Amino acid sequence: MRPAAPTAAPFLPHVLSLPAILEALPGCRGCSLYEHASQAVGGEGPRSASIVLIGEQPGDEEDRRGRPFVGPAGRLLDAALEESGIDRTTVFVTNAVKHFKFEERGKRRIHKKPSLTEIRACRPWLEAELLILKPKILVCLGATAAQTIFGADYRVTKERGRLVTHEWAERATATIHPSAILRAPHEDRNREYRLFVDDLTAVREALEGGN
Ligand code: URA
Repeated sequence: MRPAAPTAAPFLPHVLSLPAILEALPGCRGCSLYEHASQAVGGEGPRSASIVLIGEQPGDEEDRRGRPFVGPAGRLLDAALEESGIDRTTVFVTNAVKHFKFEERGKRRIHKKPSLTEIRACRPWLEAELLILKPKILVCLGATAAQTIFGADYRVTKERGRLVTHEWAERATATIHPSAILRAPHEDRNREYRLFVDDLTAVREALEGGN
């Protein structure tokens, strides 16, 4: 018999609420990522949020501080949200995977992409957050989040910015991950940042206009 696929499902609270999720998350042993990470990082934002932003996984700083998008990518995200007219305190920010996956190189911890098995194992947490929030618009930041929401064939490069209906939100879309902007060659960075702001502005307009 094939061994059962890793899953976070048994670690979820029986009665779902955002505080109950945050209380249960530290006990998650749904895959092996908890063994090396400092802590699980849950989503953050108001229960009333109309927009939910989904990243890939906590980074080094998020892992230490226990909050999503508070490192360099988070600071870029904050600036882009502000420029696009979205108040970060009104959106819910979370990740497809709740533990930091990394490789140690000397004193540095270098981000490692989560595997499909780890992404699938962590999915019940994200699904629970979205079931509670019932967002109007779901915004996937980068390929990991987009493939979690839209399936493995989704390509952000081809389909970014397109708003579609989704079972977990009234509408869902994807854009580039802020870390990809930080990693872009210097001469491309400003253009990538402007396109990111444009995508977020379109999300705000869609929310305001209901279109
Ligand atoms: N990158 C992510 O995808 N999420 C974070 O929380 C931080 C960096």
